[in-house]
Amino acid sequence: MVIHSAHPRYRTNIHAMKIGVFDSGYGGLTILSKIRQQLPQYDYLYLGDNARAPYGTRSFEVIYEYTWQAVNWLFEQGCRLVIIACNTASAKALRTIQMHNIDPTTQRVLGVIRPTVEAVPAITQNGHIGILATPGTVASNSYVLELEKTCNLSPAPCNLKITQHPCPMWVPLIEAGEQQTDGATYFIHQDLDELLAQDPLIDTIILGCTHYPLIQDQIDQYLAGRGIRTIAQGEIVAQSLEDYLTRHTDIREVLSTDGTCTYFTTESATKFQSSASRFLQADIAAQHVELP
Ligand code: DGL
Repeated sequence: MVIHSAHPRYRTNIHAMKIGVFDSGYGGLTILSKIRQQLPQYDYLYLGDNARAPYGTRSFEVIYEYTWQAVNWLFEQGCRLVIIACNTASAKALRTIQMHNIDPTTQRVLGVIRPTVEAVPAITQNGHIGILATPGTVASNSYVLELEKTCNLSPAPCNLKITQHPCPMWVPLIEAGEQQTDGATYFIHQDLDELLAQDPLIDTIILGCTHYPLIQDQIDQYLAGRGIRTIAQGEIVAQSLEDYLTRHTDIREVLSTDGTCTYFTTESATKFQSSASRFLQADIAAQHVELP
């Protein structure tokens, strides 16, 4: 794998910098909308690499390459901070980008896995955790490793039984706008059954892919009456970002505060606008961009 070296600083206008939010496609919108509810004052750039989604079945090298292209592009547009609102990219590329690609004095990149994991001990009653995610996230084992670390560090170490299950069909169905079809329902039920067959005592399921909140109602409906709580990441990531900005005044002070959001996609802008507007329940305008 070719690791890109630290990037030169971008100093377009250091007092009017934005927060970048990146996902392979539409999933990051579920994070963005919660962040904007929590922190409406800032300016955001959203980038969906819809033309190359899904990432979840791609190799480590390809996910790293695509993610770095996207993150770098957001820095070039004047972002001070980029949220990788994608578990697959957080699992496969975040650490390398943080360690090798950016100049941390002027650029910061945050992921979604660590804040999600930190919320789990307060939610589960019996420590039986299910993780639903893309094949890439599951194969990376990131959730298992992070959960074990969090648990060992917690003042009252908990006994966790963690069960992962990959859902390779869910992202393609959501990206295609087919999540309400009978075909999608079949795969959703099948994957939930397969997860619970591995551990019927699961009381908490992490929706470890930012696309999955778009089918959370269908998931919750199927699980109704079984005492299982599903965790979506939007509010958790939004709260964690607010805490981060409270601690990092150097970043907070250079962020512009006009409350705007601009959307970019590597796919057709018209297609993105129509799907994103459905997911966000508001009309948005999008612009097409080519990466790298
Ligand atoms: N939303 C991405 C995630 O959280 C989906 C990845 C994909 O494109 O497969 O993992």
